[in-house]
Amino acid sequence: MSRLWLLLGGVALVEAVWIVADFVSPRRRRATGGDDTAVIVAGPVERFEPGSVTAFPAGRFYLARLDDGGFLALNRECTHLGCTVPWVGEEGRFVCPCHASSFDITGEVLSPPAPRPLDVFQVRIENDIVKVDISRPIRRQSFSDSQVVRS
Ligand code: FES
Repeated sequence: MSRLWLLLGGVALVEAVWIVADFVSPRRRRATGGDDTAVIVAGPVERFEPGSVTAFPAGRFYLARLDDGGFLALNRECTHLGCTVPWVGEEGRFVCPCHASSFDITGEVLSPPAPRPLDVFQVRIENDIVKVDISRPIRRQSFSDSQVVRS
């Protein structure tokens, strides 16, 4: 009988280690690329209204469609200390809940302490479908029109 308890204890220990290892390991992202890319298929261009911001929680980014129809994929992590920054639609800006930095729809800093704009992810438009590569956030010192992707 004591051997059975020992065996069950061993199984419980293995399960506990597996659960902890799974919890602390990096999140897998939905990948459609074959290699080391992680691409989120956001959807058809017409799904996104000009002047809108759409959250993609699984990809940890916002897809911003600017008034002129261009797209930016903005990392949701604040560039100050990494808090998740929500879009506040009524104010038309991102406002960090931690230390009140705010960012405009292009991710540009409106009020510090954030030292630089929100990072962006690479956007591609293929056959009028918007795709975002979330494998690597791109740091930038300021917004420029060259970062905007248009169809
Ligand atoms: S983490 Fe966003 S302002 Fe500090």
